Amino acid sequence: VNYSSWIADYLEDNSQFDVKPKLSPGDVKNRLQALPPDEGENFENSIRDFENIIAPNLTHWQSPNFHAYFNSNTSYESVLGELLAAGLNVNVFSWQTSPAGTELEEVVMGWLRRMIALPDTFEGVIQDTASSASLVSFLTAREKYSDFRINESGFGDFTGFRIYCSEEAHSSIEKGVKIAGFGKNNLVKIPTDEKFAMKPAKLREAIQKDISAGMKPLCVVSTIGTTGSTAVDPVKETGKICREFKLWHHVDAAHAGTAMLLPEYRYLLEGIENVDTFVFNPHKWMFTNFDFSAYFVRDKEALIRTFEIMPEYLKTSVDNRVNNFRDWGIPLGRRFRALKMWFVIRSMGVKGLQDKIRGHIELACELKKKIESHKRLELLAPMEFNTICFRYVPDKSAREEEIDNANIELLKKLNDTGEVFLSHTRLKGKYTIRIVVGQTNTSREHTEKLWKLIRKFT
Ligand SMILES: Cc1ncc(COP(=O)(O)O)c(C=O)c1O
Repeated sequence: VNYSSWIADYLEDNSQFDVKPKLSPGDVKNRLQALPPDEGENFENSIRDFENIIAPNLTHWQSPNFHAYFNSNTSYESVLGELLAAGLNVNVFSWQTSPAGTELEEVVMGWLRRMIALPDTFEGVIQDTASSASLVSFLTAREKYSDFRINESGFGDFTGFRIYCSEEAHSSIEKGVKIAGFGKNNLVKIPTDEKFAMKPAKLREAIQKDISAGMKPLCVVSTIGTTGSTAVDPVKETGKICREFKLWHHVDAAHAGTAMLLPEYRYLLEGIENVDTFVFNPHKWMFTNFDFSAYFVRDKEALIRTFEIMPEYLKTSVDNRVNNFRDWGIPLGRRFRALKMWFVIRSMGVKGLQDKIRGHIELACELKKKIESHKRLELLAPMEFNTICFRYVPDKSAREEEIDNANIELLKKLNDTGEVFLSHTRLKGKYTIRIVVGQTNTSREHTEKLWKLIRKFT
């Protein structure tokens, strides 16, 4: 089998697989050899098992009927870039270890910055995930505040740091706060308004309260496109508060950052010039396979001072003239990720990318209108981008718990068909079904099929 053509065929049509297989935990493991073979086997055996045991028992993220979580979409160009990067297997930790890898990363990050209209005061670096990028941001904030002394001698007297985000912020923020050593209890979750966006007045109140109690407010996280409902925190107003209290401001736009390719969304970036760090994930919605997280910083020196290491064996004669990206994040070893993004941007062009993203948003709008006009369906959040949050209300007099149960059942019925895969969240306590329209090949045919299934079960 020619496996590049297997991948191409798969990306073109993977309808032979259920989007989400019907399995119980352990079903796959039970079919795999318990022990590693002593002698090497014919590779055909591994391929056969891949086809029979692995491929049908995956959840198929590249199905156009995958509408769960946030998509992690891809493209032929991206896969080819990944394949070449795997074959080359260069390590992009310093300029010397990969000159073209380093310089292509500089160019691609410059392109991305321009494409989403970030000011050119930002410099970019690729991180593996938004979770890592947010952690890197917190560590930089911590070091800048302590004049890099926590790195030197631990927290010592630096206690009582407080970090703020909305109650809708992604769980990676809490994880980052824990790992950065602030303690989960020092993450203050600010209430949100009826659109699930952080309330600036409540943020200010929380900061003032903490200052009066002798705590040290350090950092605020704004989200553009929360995971539950893609709500947008008010970056500009939040930024004003950050400036007033001299706080670090990190923006997590993991999913929705890609929408900033479209000029009509850029009003959401108002005030971005004062933000300290910004992350978005082309590996979600920008046709670039996992992993590729674009992290932008305003103060490159602070970032590097936080992470720089210079053992003798890593020194090179050009260190004062180049970017050594190992010093821009946590791991030393770094994959050659710029290549796939470069291929994607060059093949699709900015216009091609904009058309695809607008296409997803238009399909989501059509589906949203249908849901809105259905008597027993209810939207639970405004649709900012390509994510619809709704629920089924079988009977207006039903109790909340009964409505929740009806939706748990509806989601199960939809997913059990194997024809679509959706996921859920809770918004203001209500069980919410989410539909994300963002896989590369999702077209009207697929959203109509989903709509038919929703109608069938409601
Ligand atoms: C708003 C937001 N931030 C962060 C993340 C985490 O992204 P990653 O998997 O790249 O760490 C997600 C994932 O969906 C997200 O929606």
